[in-house]
Amino acid sequence: EMLEKGGFDHFMLKEIYEQPRSIKDCMRGRIYPTKGLVQLGGIKEYADKLKNVDRIIIVACGTSWHAGLVGEYLIEECARIPVEVEYASEFRYRNPIISEKDIVIAVSQSGETADTMAAIELAKEKGATIFGICNVVGASIPRLSHAGVYTHAGPEIGVASTKAFTAQVTVLTLMALYMAQQRGTISNSKLVHLLTELDNIPSLVEQCLKSNDTIRVMSEQFKDARNFLFLGRGSGFPVALEGALKLKEISYIHAEGYPAAEMKHGPIALIDEEMPVVFIATKNSSYEKVISNIQEVKARKGKVIAIVTEGDTTVKNMADYTIEIPDADEIFLPLLATIPLQLLSYHIAVLRGCNVDQPRNLAKSVTVE
Ligand code: G6P
Repeated sequence: EMLEKGGFDHFMLKEIYEQPRSIKDCMRGRIYPTKGLVQLGGIKEYADKLKNVDRIIIVACGTSWHAGLVGEYLIEECARIPVEVEYASEFRYRNPIISEKDIVIAVSQSGETADTMAAIELAKEKGATIFGICNVVGASIPRLSHAGVYTHAGPEIGVASTKAFTAQVTVLTLMALYMAQQRGTISNSKLVHLLTELDNIPSLVEQCLKSNDTIRVMSEQFKDARNFLFLGRGSGFPVALEGALKLKEISYIHAEGYPAAEMKHGPIALIDEEMPVVFIATKNSSYEKVISNIQEVKARKGKVIAIVTEGDTTVKNMADYTIEIPDADEIFLPLLATIPLQLLSYHIAVLRGCNVDQPRNLAKSVTVE
């Protein structure tokens, strides 16, 4: 088993470290940075439909639902198509309004999640076009879909999803840029620029992994925490949700993810010197706003852990702990900011003596309702 883990203590850590590779595999043959071109063979038959589509609905569960939320931000930002993201289990029981004009994207690592399958069966009956984003080749969801794009992250053994999540986000980034290219909502020079940066993301992820030792040492301070808050804005919000889910899943510490601005409508009441608050505080369009949210937490003696852009000193002076990630275009933030949060939950769980690869009560794939 040690061999299968490639020298790592757990599959989860191995899979976290595989991400530079899995993200690269996911982009292989799909991007041509110098030409400013994205090619997605799996959905190319629907290129015309994408030109005119009025709405996209993304259905998923768990971590895949968080990837869907990132997808909403990316598709709306790049391709200007309105997107709704639904929990498959809610969508299927709600007599949802769907027509043959809609595209429904199902996101699923396993391709076997019962609720996600039922949601796309329903959407298909109502005439929608179904795209699948799956990791397991030939699974039920890809077979039920009209078209789709595989994530090619390789087998994921750890129950808590890591490399499958970043691969899903990579595919959604490619889809958003592909749609933008079809619809002319992005210039070719901008595409050249973004694809050049995207091509370099695997090496930036590699850089993020270098914080591992810092994060392990920092985790000692938080292993006995009873609660955690994760806050972010924009696409940093789904990253916060995913950070909180990861911690809950493997360390059994109660954690909540919130949009940072919503803190004042509830979670702020919980903040005292016992409450660690993780902020996604990178230098992007919401940077200044996040800084004022950090001040609000510090004023109440909360412990701040901030994910910051390399070289940032402003947040460093305010936060109790900072973890640096490299600078990149804002649309790539989720791919980078997720990495330190995976490592944080991993080390806290290990320090607490938890079974990180097989957390209690959880299954890798939920094939029953
Ligand atoms: C389970 C797994 C999660 C996963 C979710 C959705 O809860 O433990 O890691 O995100 O199912 O699974 P899917 O295979 O559809 O992505």
